[in-house]
Amino acid sequence: MAVGLRQPSTKPRFELTRPVFLVGFMGAGKSSVARKLARMCQVSSLDLDTYIERSAGKAVNDIFAEVGETGFRAIETEALKTVAFKRDPMLVSCGGGIVCQAENRSVLTQGGFVIHLRVDALEASKRISDTSTRPLFNDLAEADERCTTRMPLYEEVADATVDTIGKNVYQIAKEVQRILTKEGVLCQR
Ligand code: S3P
Repeated sequence: MAVGLRQPSTKPRFELTRPVFLVGFMGAGKSSVARKLARMCQVSSLDLDTYIERSAGKAVNDIFAEVGETGFRAIETEALKTVAFKRDPMLVSCGGGIVCQAENRSVLTQGGFVIHLRVDALEASKRISDTSTRPLFNDLAEADERCTTRMPLYEEVADATVDTIGKNVYQIAKEVQRILTKEGVLCQR
């Protein structure tokens, strides 16, 4: 083969027919799964917290310190609306508290396909190496209560749920891929 000439990729390429939102409690693996699946299927992905941090020029922790949870939620809603209505559908990993606002729940379910990555607080605490980066994960008892309160909201918006406990990122991504393919949301080009 000539130097510099690249063989066309034999990997199947996919496209999304609708935006896909990954929701679930902190530590569910939303960002890692979105990244992995995007790489596996060559589709675009976006992490909503990273988008917020880049737009604000500061970390989520600092936003919480400056404007509190209420201020953060308002920023989060604006960010969600911006990415949800983009022309090209993307795989979006959302912050764990996205379901707390009724307005967000209706944006998620309006045109998107929502997958709940289920985790419990104990498993989440094992996965999050540094909980100081999570302003709302202070101790296990509080996280457990918050997780239990939010569970019906995750289920309310979810088109499908994937249990993540005991699975690695690749296994979860494959499961999400299977669901999206079966539902006609992820199609081969
Ligand atoms: C939050 C979860 C975080 C981040 C913020 C608030 C929450 O995202 O949006 O700290 O309320 O559960 P992750 O779920 O990605 O940790």
